[in-house]
Amino acid sequence: MGKRVTINDLAVGGEGVGRLEDGRAVFVVGSAVGDELLIDLTEEKKRYARGRIVEVLSPGENRRDPPCPNVVKGCGGCDWQHLNQDAQIDAKLSIVAQSLERLGSISPPDIGYVSGPEEKNYRTTMRVGVVDGHAALRKARSNELIQLEECVVAHPMIEDILANGFFHTASDVTIRVGSRTGDRLVMGEPVADGFSLPDDVRVVGRNEARKGAEAFVFEEAAGIEWRISAQSFFQSSPEGAESLIGLTAEWLSVQDVGEQVMVDLYAGVGLFSGTVGDWFEKVTAVESSKSATRDAQHNLGSHVSIHQLEVEKWTPELADVVIADPPRSGLRASGVEVIRLTEAPHVVLISCDAGALGRDARLLTAAGYELDQIDVLDMFPQTSHVEVVSGWIRQA
Ligand SMILES: C[S@@+](CC[C@H](N)C(=O)[O-])C[C@H]1O[C@@H](n2cnc3c(N)ncnc32)[C@H](O)[C@@H]1O
Repeated sequence: MGKRVTINDLAVGGEGVGRLEDGRAVFVVGSAVGDELLIDLTEEKKRYARGRIVEVLSPGENRRDPPCPNVVKGCGGCDWQHLNQDAQIDAKLSIVAQSLERLGSISPPDIGYVSGPEEKNYRTTMRVGVVDGHAALRKARSNELIQLEECVVAHPMIEDILANGFFHTASDVTIRVGSRTGDRLVMGEPVADGFSLPDDVRVVGRNEARKGAEAFVFEEAAGIEWRISAQSFFQSSPEGAESLIGLTAEWLSVQDVGEQVMVDLYAGVGLFSGTVGDWFEKVTAVESSKSATRDAQHNLGSHVSIHQLEVEKWTPELADVVIADPPRSGLRASGVEVIRLTEAPHVVLISCDAGALGRDARLLTAAGYELDQIDVLDMFPQTSHVEVVSGWIRQA
């Protein structure tokens, strides 16, 4: 039988949280603060449960009709379509503050908010599933796929491929576009046999790419043309990339920063080495992915020395500044130890997961760094994903 619950907070993962009669927390996907709901329990543990909305009995004041037609079909691509924009912003700030307090044991200074790209049509890379040869997205908390021809957050050049592409027997496809250059690329998993796509789209199978087949787009950001291969990471949009560079440069420019050595950890195709790196005599970029390293070699000048290996395996060198932009798992103890050994007086940490930020904050503090500035950059509107830029100063 359904249970009644009132939602009183949003959790790090984006779900609403309420309390069951027995005191356990219950996490409900697609809910908003203030919602009174009838739910079914989908998972039960000793201390918490998960639920699915059966009926919204009374909507919270921040609930809205999702702007995307795929939400009613169950698409799980964007988990906050049902929240109005102001509520999304407040929730992101609150989730970051809570994570710093609870996991990082830090009372944060004021957390800044910087709007990212447009609310819609911003994503220039998307990985989607395939059903009967057509693009599909996963339902929330499920492996079930639903076909889609439009997507509110996809760049129109991607939407065109979603609607008109045929991907034969591939299980997944990665679609990447250079929104400012017009380049388009599709990578099929595991192969791209039998694909039907507009003539301008470059096509590659992941198996071929693994064996060294080169397939890339060019994208423009911060006045630079970046080569980005199918398998390399790039920020969700060139506008988002520019905001990240801007926040990093702004904070460093008001610090008394040495100009000799910058270390760019988790460097990707070289976004920070190729921009902020110009202020330094020498830049060291460390990146584990082969394709991203190859792109970085193409994108970066000769004052950058590029190391293709895991950060944990790199031999730290003394630095004036470290910029670290790890994947969702964060720096962890091993990454923080590498930073500590560089003795860098200034560190910029870019975090794409609030929980990892909290854990890294605790580790950085223990390694002798103090949080000086922190900003949430809203790179992923309509979703609970956060991108956070924080500036850290080593204490003498
Ligand atoms: C969030 S991306 C950031 C890339 C780049 N800074 C940018 O802004 O475009 C994280 C990058 O770290 C790389 N990576 C993941 N784990 C790594 C590790 N242990 N050591 C080095 N690089 C790693 C990934 O391949 C990816 O390129």
